[in-house]
Amino acid sequence: MVKPSVLVTRRWPAAVEARLAENYNTVLNRGDKPMSPAQIRDALRSYDAVLPTVTDTLNSEALDVPAAKTRILANYGVGYSHICESAARSLGMTVTNTPDVLSECTADLAMTLLLMVARRAGEGERELRAGGWTGWRPTHLIGTKVSGKTLGIVGFGRIGQEMARRAHHGFGMKIIVQNRSRVAHEVLARCNATQVDSIEELLPQCDFVSLHCPGGAANRHLINARRLDLMKPDAFLINTARGEVIDEFALTQALMFDIIGGAALDVFDGEPRISQTLMQCDNLVMLPHLGSATREAREAMGFRVLENLDDFFDGKPPRDKVI
Ligand code: DGY
Repeated sequence: MVKPSVLVTRRWPAAVEARLAENYNTVLNRGDKPMSPAQIRDALRSYDAVLPTVTDTLNSEALDVPAAKTRILANYGVGYSHICESAARSLGMTVTNTPDVLSECTADLAMTLLLMVARRAGEGERELRAGGWTGWRPTHLIGTKVSGKTLGIVGFGRIGQEMARRAHHGFGMKIIVQNRSRVAHEVLARCNATQVDSIEELLPQCDFVSLHCPGGAANRHLINARRLDLMKPDAFLINTARGEVIDEFALTQALMFDIIGGAALDVFDGEPRISQTLMQCDNLVMLPHLGSATREAREAMGFRVLENLDDFFDGKPPRDKVI
């Protein structure tokens, strides 16, 4: 039997690439350069499966391929707001993602960011490396205590729940949740969390707010100037979800004019480009989209894509079918 042809759009962990090559006619992106919309369109005409990531734009323009050969977009990553849902549907393509296997590592990174911004770790490291540290003193880089504070979580899916678990059981934080659907009582009870009906209700109560909702058009600029104004003036905003969820211009203003205490971002609107004004905010910690970047998570994500592909080409519904 002829093996299905598969294009992998970026470099993946070696163990997963090797397994893919055993099971499929696999073409790897050895140069690891992001693909242009034109290259994506060519791929959709040529391969049975395309395995994209967050760095591939699969918008309606890229998916405007009437004679597409590709029947499945098996995404490497849990978020898939870079894939235009309606265009994929109209081409009859199946889309899968990789939930669960990165939840703990992404929550670990969200907690890292929360601690870094509260304890001014980024500022401290920058000062030390620049040779500016003059020694211990009682007033040096005074941060904010984390233990026992209130954490608001926007989006209480798997990653949001892992974040709540760390914050509540590790740091004794009080957890308030906003989620588009009602969260089961037993899920909230695991962290003694309270669910509120709106972001407006959540923001004024929190010392920290961590975003774990999906990206895409529906949540674009969910956190805007009006909502930043609702946060406490010394509260911190953490984003490991998607860059577009925050209006970055409004955030820059809020950081520069002390509307909030600080922010910590792992994701950016239009990444990897970062606005120069964000760069100038000292009360901001920034990481280059490292949420799931552990060996364990990245391998597990790859093997989860393989499982989805195997199911699909065996004629079974893939376990992570989202479209
Ligand atoms: C995810 O899985 O959504 C990560 O952010 C990488 O896309």
